[in-house]
Amino acid sequence: MTATLGPRIMSGSCCYNQSTQPLHRFFRYKPGQKHFLMQSSRSFITNLLFNKRNIDELQNGTRKRLRPGKLSPRRPVPEHILKPPYIGSKKAPGIASGPEVHDEKGIEYMRASGRLAAQVLQYAGTLVRPGITTDEIDQEVHQMIIDNGAYPSPLGYGGFPKSVCTSVNECICHGIPDSRELEDGDIINIDVTGYHGDTSATYFCGNVEDKAKNLVQVTKESLDKAISVCAPGVEFNTIGKVINAHADRHRYGVVQTFVGHGVGRVFHSDPVILHYRNNERGRMVLNQTFTIEPMLTMGSIHPIIWDDDWTVVTEDGSLSAQFEHTLLITENGAEILTQC
Ligand code: MF3
Ligand code: CO
Ligand code: CO
Repeated sequence: MTATLGPRIMSGSCCYNQSTQPLHRFFRYKPGQKHFLMQSSRSFITNLLFNKRNIDELQNGTRKRLRPGKLSPRRPVPEHILKPPYIGSKKAPGIASGPEVHDEKGIEYMRASGRLAAQVLQYAGTLVRPGITTDEIDQEVHQMIIDNGAYPSPLGYGGFPKSVCTSVNECICHGIPDSRELEDGDIINIDVTGYHGDTSATYFCGNVEDKAKNLVQVTKESLDKAISVCAPGVEFNTIGKVINAHADRHRYGVVQTFVGHGVGRVFHSDPVILHYRNNERGRMVLNQTFTIEPMLTMGSIHPIIWDDDWTVVTEDGSLSAQFEHTLLITENGAEILTQC
């Protein structure tokens, strides 16, 4: 979904929460304009602390701020591949109401698309090295997905121009593959969705500083911990509790604006999965599929969206990492569908 549509929820990597939900307000960044952030005094103090650490990080480091590169022409999808209904519309579909709960056949489909997404992500990860452009990664991902008869879900979703999201360094999510070459020391999240298994991981490019490695490691652990508590009857807010506690322990921030989501027949559906501490109601049910996709930051958790209406970066330029899996709730817990 695009940032111009006003307040709403965007899923994890893809949804932002919006006006119907008072907790999550999204403000589009306009240079020179003041921004009013609704937050409790407690979170205000926390943010001041984060900002302090962040400034240090930016001053000591030599890393340049991320800038947009050039986009290559749109990649074609062969006729025989089934296209999702949102293609052609500039408006992102938003979050469909109703959970994704599957019968046996549906579970089989979900396992197949999850496995494919995982294989594509694994392959994309092997491409990460200094000098490769994110557009080249997009080319490879696009090709592998269509070679397997699937549609690369991001392509044409709310006008998203490419087949995968590549989010480098301070990019929280929804980075658009372009002509920028990866540099030694970068971290990059690659988010693959093939109709509609949704998964992402953050990779190291060359020699990465220990503090960036630690952020990535803790983000991965927070996802693993959240997955381990999932089972039928468990409250969704347990996920946010577990992730936020782990992030707190390491003094990292948890991005609130972007959330996990139901996934299956549609790309983004109920429930909205909050990665931070919350008291929302709702419990997991057997045979339900959804994503968990925490984004942890070294500094500010507040996002800025670029003029391309997609790229989300931290307001202070501090690093952000993300991992995502698509899960199936089983009798005993959760099965990770996006696994090779
Ligand atoms: N894969 C993202 C998610 O986790 C969604 C990306 S939407 C796109 O939900 F249009 F940016 F690709
Ligand atoms: Co997702
Ligand atoms: Co994703």
